[in-house]
Amino acid sequence: MDLQLKDKVVLVTGGGKGIGAAIVRGSAREGAVPVFVDKDVEAANQLKKDLCDAGAKCGLIIADVIPPENCAAIVEQTVREFGRLDVLVNNVGVNDNVGLETGSPEKYVKSLQLNLLHYYNVAHYALPSLKKAQGNIVNIASKVAMTGQGKTSGYTSAKGAILSLTRDWACELLPYGMRVNALVPAEVMTPLYKWWLNTFPNPEEKLQHIVSKIPLGKRMTQPEEIAAMVLFLISPQASHITGQHVLVDGGYVHLDRALT
Ligand SMILES: NC(=O)c1ccc[n+]([C@@H]2O[C@H](COP(=O)([O-])OP(=O)(O)OC[C@H]3O[C@@H](n4cnc5c(N)ncnc54)[C@H](O)[C@@H]3O)[C@@H](O)[C@H]2O)c1
Repeated sequence: MDLQLKDKVVLVTGGGKGIGAAIVRGSAREGAVPVFVDKDVEAANQLKKDLCDAGAKCGLIIADVIPPENCAAIVEQTVREFGRLDVLVNNVGVNDNVGLETGSPEKYVKSLQLNLLHYYNVAHYALPSLKKAQGNIVNIASKVAMTGQGKTSGYTSAKGAILSLTRDWACELLPYGMRVNALVPAEVMTPLYKWWLNTFPNPEEKLQHIVSKIPLGKRMTQPEEIAAMVLFLISPQASHITGQHVLVDGGYVHLDRALT
């Protein structure tokens, strides 16, 4: 299937590692022009070098997405350098364990800044360019929005809001023929996931316990499997899909628990 993404400018936040990097690599492979934002200078520069060595056209913006003024600057730089913006993939998020008992009002607000507010901010500043291109948006959410996890109020409520925003933006942008969807991962092996596993006393035991509950193949989802669905959703091949929460999780959230 030709995804018809050639020369489309695809802005990916948190594109230096993990799921974001898989989306960046996949976009480049499809002939799109990924522009990725990350605050991890080393990882992002390495990815940019890999893409350039492979002959791909891409852009890198080293920035922290939390300050709203950075979100405006990220969009401005993308459009200045590449002349257009076709797709926004909102992806930065960190499961930061700000719980009801373990957190505080201040930590809760910080968690929302890290996990939610920049989704709105980047989309807000990107909208004029996306409208011009009749582009689309994919928001990376998480299964915790549907299942909860415990002891992570900030992250969970941010991800729940991201699912709601996806529906609301899909409604708001109908008149412009623009689509907005959410991709919902569950258990994906990324640097963030490895960090989270290492917060447990026995990470390997925890990992085995989790994968034993993943119905399809009893294995983690690979970042490339998330990216494949994102590439489809941002492509014209998904031209009648909007407002959807698409789970790529090996059946983790919805299949009969008796099977695991
Ligand atoms: N890995 C999973 O199992 C999983 C499950 C559900 C949802 N998700 C979601 O997928 C998305 C990506 O997660 P991942 O596992 O690939 O994470 P990751 O940490 O492996 O990669 C995220 C990237 O974002 C960058 N980043 C973090 N904060 C930033 C900031 N403030 N400004 C700019 N860049 C920043 C990091 O440097 C990193 O390169 C997140 O929204 C996460 O909540 C992941």
